[in-house]
Amino acid sequence: MDNNQSHNGFEAAMPEELVSALGTPDESWLLYMRQLRADFARLMMEYNAGINEVMTKIGILQEEFVHLHRYNPIEHVSSRVKKPDSLIKKVVSKGIGLSTESIRASITDIAGVRVTCSFIADTYRVLDALTKQDDVKVLEIKDYIEDPKPSGYKSLHAIIEVPVFLSTGPVPVVVEVQIRTIAMDFWASLEHKIFYKYDREVPDRLIADLRDAAKVAEQLDLRMQELHREIHGDPSSVPEDLHIDLDENIVKQLWEATRQGDTAKEEQGDTLKGDTANEEQEDTPKGDTVAREDGAEQ
Ligand code: GTP
Ligand code: MG
Repeated sequence: MDNNQSHNGFEAAMPEELVSALGTPDESWLLYMRQLRADFARLMMEYNAGINEVMTKIGILQEEFVHLHRYNPIEHVSSRVKKPDSLIKKVVSKGIGLSTESIRASITDIAGVRVTCSFIADTYRVLDALTKQDDVKVLEIKDYIEDPKPSGYKSLHAIIEVPVFLSTGPVPVVVEVQIRTIAMDFWASLEHKIFYKYDREVPDRLIADLRDAAKVAEQLDLRMQELHREIHGDPSSVPEDLHIDLDENIVKQLWEATRQGDTAKEEQGDTLKGDTANEEQEDTPKGDTVAREDGAEQ
């Protein structure tokens, strides 16, 4: 490979790790890079579509839950596609080939959806409702709520695969879904900021404080859940007095339509009875009766 050529500016945006892994750009891999760029754009488009699929599913579950239980279990949903530069860094650090096939197979957090729920029970409810869907293939579930990370981090993580329907047919896309409570989310975002502020070398005192804060967040979650149960009961059961928001006029119209339906059925019943009676009158030609009744041949 000839290493003295520079071109289309792509390498300017490349992290140093990549340049050192591949060598200085040269003409021979210009075409390769062009192809790679096109493949990457397609890859990102597919992951974006995967996110849209999962966001739609979560939106539907949320609407249904509000409809059934009269409260919103999901406070917030956010999503992101991994930025190309951090994806490339991860690819290089993991020693994965740069082909989109190997990236697809080895990196599971290119598409990420984060669901923030009101209460702990809701996180499991959302996870269950999402992962039991027929077109969702579960690749991995990590329950960091039951089994928190040593840092104190809590969340449910699900790596799922959803089909995305492109013009060429369905493409399976892997999406990482993180589900947590507001308190867990608050903790995680602060911890994340501290982690980066100290460039991953967080002082021991802060690490201990963060662990304590995680315990306080857990207590808050448990108490809020208890309070919620006292007020609303257990949302796992569908309330018997389920109210449905329908305009009074619509209800009236439905009632009238039902009544009309019943009357029509009754009349149809009478006609059928009449037909039977006709059949019993041996001297009445059946064909004629039918032709006259439905008017089709007049
Ligand atoms: P990655 O290589 O970062 O994907 O980690 P992993 O493959 O071990 O996966 P894991 O499920 O443990 O974590 C994936 C994601 O969860 C991270 O990218 C973060 O968004 C989040 N996460 C995991 N651990 C922590 C933590 O200790 N603190 C915070 N703030 N977030 C975490
Ligand atoms: Mg990950």
